[in-house]
Order: sequence, then C-alpha cells, then structure tokens
Amino acid sequence: MRRYQQIASKALKTMTLIKDDTIRRYIPETKWYHRETLFQMLKQYPTIFIKPDKGGGGSGILRIRRVGADFECCSSYSCKTLKKQKLVSWIEKNLVSTKRYIIQQGISLATVGGRPFDLRLLLQKPGSKWELAGMVAKIAAPGRVVTNYCKGGTPCEIKRALLNITKNDQKKMEELILQLHFLGKKISKILNNRFKGLRELGIDVGIDKQHQLWVFEVNTRPQFKMFSKLDNLQMYRRIVRNHRRIV
Ligand SMILES: Nc1ncnc2c1ncn2[C@@H]1O[C@H](COP(=O)(O)OP(=O)(O)O)[C@@H](O)[C@H]1O
Ligand SMILES: [Mg+2]
Repeated sequence: MRRYQQIASKALKTMTLIKDDTIRRYIPETKWYHRETLFQMLKQYPTIFIKPDKGGGGSGILRIRRVGADFECCSSYSCKTLKKQKLVSWIEKNLVSTKRYIIQQGISLATVGGRPFDLRLLLQKPGSKWELAGMVAKIAAPGRVVTNYCKGGTPCEIKRALLNITKNDQKKMEELILQLHFLGKKISKILNNRFKGLRELGIDVGIDKQHQLWVFEVNTRPQFKMFSKLDNLQMYRRIVRNHRRIV
C-alpha cells in the first residue's frame, strides 16, 4: 500500500486555513486549551468544544455550555450541570494528560427531526486534480454532541437534509451546495500548497441555525464507509475507484 501524507494536528491545519482571507470567516474561533483560554472563551461564547489536537472519530470531545451561572458539561458518556468552582476539575479529569487540546467556539447546529447534523465533504486527488467525490450529511445519534459515523451518526443524502432545514427552498439549497463546492476547492488548494503529499481530504462542515457554514476540521486520512450506507451508491463507487488509484 502506498502511503500518502497525513497531518494529524487540528491546530496546524486550522492555522494554515485561517491565513486565507476568504476561508477565515468559516472557521470557528480556535485556541489551545489552557485554564485562561477556557474562561476567556466561555465569556465570549455560550458553548465551547474541547477536542484533542490529534484525535478522531469524535473521541475525547467535551462540550461545555453556559446555563445561567452554571455550566452543562458533556462528554461521550454523560452530561451534568456544575458550578463554576467544579468546572476545571471536571474538564481536566476528562482530559488525557499526555495530549494537547484545542478549544473551539461552539456552533449551534441546525437539526433534522430534533437531531443536530453536519456535513462531510470527501475530496480526492487520484491524478493531478482534486475532485469533490462525495458529500453527505451526518445526523447525530440521540443524546450525542458529535455526529461521527463511528459514534452512531446516521448518513443522510445531503440535498434532503438541506431541503429539510430550508423548508424545501430549492434555490437556498442550491446556493449552499455551491458554497460547499467553493469550500472544498479552496481548502484542498490551500492545504495542498502547504502540504504537498496530501491525496484525500474529509472536511467536516457545520451548518448553524441561520444556515451559515462552519469548517470544524479537515481529515487527511478520511474514512468513507458512511457513503456505502446511502441508497444511491454512485458517490461510494467513485470514492472507492479513486481510492484504489491513490493507495
Ligand atoms: N465547534 C463546534 N461546534 C459544534 N459542534 C462541533 C464543533 N466541533 C466539533 N463538533 C461536533 O463534533 C464532531 C467531531 O468533531 P471534529 O472536530 O470533527 O473531531 P473528530 O476528529 O473527532 O471527528 C463534529 O462532526 C461536530 O458534530
Ligand atoms: Mg470529524
């Protein structure tokens, strides 16, 4: 199997992307996790996410939400409401001491059937050009703060999810799809300029309740099994075909 370049650090990829004037607005504010940045971010935003810098599959992610003077704290396992004095010890109990963490402005995701969802763009470079080979919506499993497929997220046809939130506004849906094409093209170009050996990218894009798009992260060794769960297998077949040319 041929190996191609992988960049694990979310912070490094985010730093590369925010240098671009057109992409910066799509990236939620992101800092390294420290006690100071925690309280600073919690002053600024009602919800924040804490994520391992080098992690994946929705593992180790915490969501903290301000509720009056208290904080709702959710891990993969549970949610509980804590007083401010208990917050840091709860968070740090849930962090792995050998890992570095980032802290990110939380986006209030649009929902389908009451469940938050986000979008995955799959880009591949089987030859000399990047192709947007797949787009899918991932709907979070009940009670989850992440939409990841391996955490029970359900893949859903992207146009269906977008029509659902735009109340069947075909024009708005098509505008969003165009914006996603722009994001895919631009992000693959920026990252590939900086990291020459990339061949596949999985971009996680959130869509908030006002239908703004937000880029959460870019995976450089993306999974694509979720595309095999769609009724229409056209994208999946194309992805597999490209993948075989790449690895
Ligand atoms: N800033 C955020 N605001 C809202 N939801 C988020 C945010 N960051 C992550 N999430 C949710 O958590 C999921 C996993 O986060 P992500 O950054 O993709 O890490 P991983 O590498 O573990 O997949 C996202 O797909 C999204 O559903
Ligand atoms: Mg992800």
